[in-house]
Amino acid sequence: MSARSFAATPDGGLAQEMKAAYAQDGFLVLTGYKSAEACDALRDRMSALIDAFDPAENASVFETGAQSHARDRYFRESGDKIRFFFEEEAFDADGRLTRPKHAALNKVGHALHDLDPVFEAFSRDPRLARTAGDLGLGAPLLAQSMYIFKPPEIGGEVGCHQDSTFLHTEPMTCTGFWFALEDADETNGGLLGVPGGHRGPLRQRFRHDGTGLGMETLDETPFGADVPLIAPKGTLVVLHGLVPHRSAPNRSPRSRAAYALHMVDASARWSPDNWLTRALENPMRGF
Ligand code: FE2
Repeated sequence: MSARSFAATPDGGLAQEMKAAYAQDGFLVLTGYKSAEACDALRDRMSALIDAFDPAENASVFETGAQSHARDRYFRESGDKIRFFFEEEAFDADGRLTRPKHAALNKVGHALHDLDPVFEAFSRDPRLARTAGDLGLGAPLLAQSMYIFKPPEIGGEVGCHQDSTFLHTEPMTCTGFWFALEDADETNGGLLGVPGGHRGPLRQRFRHDGTGLGMETLDETPFGADVPLIAPKGTLVVLHGLVPHRSAPNRSPRSRAAYALHMVDASARWSPDNWLTRALENPMRGF
């Protein structure tokens, strides 16, 4: 069994049955939300950003071995930047890339939506503002964006998690907007989600304790059984911040590019020990 899906509306508004499905499942699959052309434009833009990216400039970050401190900083300071993260399996034992950079990346983040005009237009879409409003986000802030590659053969798995673990507010308002830029299903590492799992507790928090980043366990309740969220190219999958979800490795010859945008509500208190930080002069913004 896979999750139910709905055809997206032209203006991004949510019909009553869509709102009811989101309330019941904690996720909402809207097919045809973005056009194939819009998906291709985003992929082309990312390809150009990678062309301009020189991994050698950050060699210390990507070397394996004793460089975890440099890697942590590169990650931690990426909240208001565009930074590049590689697949673990893309390096040989000596820390050298085993394939071209275009085929070796895991993700790029985390402020594409603020810093790149093509990504900004895709993200600050009036239809998406309407969708967010209909989901109950009264004052949405675009907190974080990620381009996720899931390259053929080496695309790594993402273990089961809740997004409020990583973007925490009080009360919890984190909501994920995940766009399939290519067909994503059970054969190429597509998403899986636990129906109704958003009614369970937050299990973990990924936080900065003053000296470093670490995972804190809050609750040991198991996540429960998940179902595939089949997402043809152009689909938007909305994920409640508490709904457990994951994706399998991609061992197929097909890539599975996706763009994920996370919002929080400005009316909630941003937890200051979140991993994500931004310069004071560059705060999170809404639509
Ligand atoms: Fe997630």
